[in-house]
Amino acid sequence: MAEIQATEPDESGIFEKIAQELVEHGYCVLPHALPKDMTLQLQSLIAQLPEENFHKAGVGRNGDLKNDMSIRRDQISWINNETEAGASWLDWTNQLMAYLNRRLFLGLSSFESHFAHYGKGDFYKKHLDAFKGSANRTLSLVTYLNKDWQPIDGGELIIYHPETDKQLTKVLPEFGTLVIFLSEEFPHEVLPAKKERLSIAGWFRINSSQSGYV
Ligand code: OGA
Ligand code: MN
Repeated sequence: MAEIQATEPDESGIFEKIAQELVEHGYCVLPHALPKDMTLQLQSLIAQLPEENFHKAGVGRNGDLKNDMSIRRDQISWINNETEAGASWLDWTNQLMAYLNRRLFLGLSSFESHFAHYGKGDFYKKHLDAFKGSANRTLSLVTYLNKDWQPIDGGELIIYHPETDKQLTKVLPEFGTLVIFLSEEFPHEVLPAKKERLSIAGWFRINSSQSGYV
């Protein structure tokens, strides 16, 4: 019988690395993880997006903008496959999802992601991406589109230990670095950026009867 679908190739070995780190630690930070051409395409797409495509994201709950602004300051623009860069990004993340499902039996069924623009001084206070037991966001993914980011530029992602709250890692938002972690487990925050900071944040979900709730 003909194969229904080519299996995810993982030529660079990056999908396997992610799978192993997730099993071992529940999170991973991988520099230069994304295919370079795709990252460059995404970088030029975000640079071309008109300002009106970006909007303030809520933190959930009740749409209280003032409250939201004290928690997060970034502006976001959802990624779809209408552009070449968007389509290759969604294809790559889909292959990653298939790989992780096959390798770790995660049962992930969908992925959504947005560009995020942090201006000077913008931050995202410590938070979890999913509430325990909500069967909602399962795996969080973040990647960065900033060339030559330096420690003095701020804007680091800090990931905390689920139980002890100790700082596990501090990530410079450097071009092509990929961060993946279990959404319900790891509190994390974005320190104030000292200059424009561009990123993509995304979430793999498992199928849930309450889908549609964000
Ligand atoms: C998020 C988030 C981290 C980052 O958007 O939920 O935690 O480093 N982003 O941009
Ligand atoms: Mn987050």
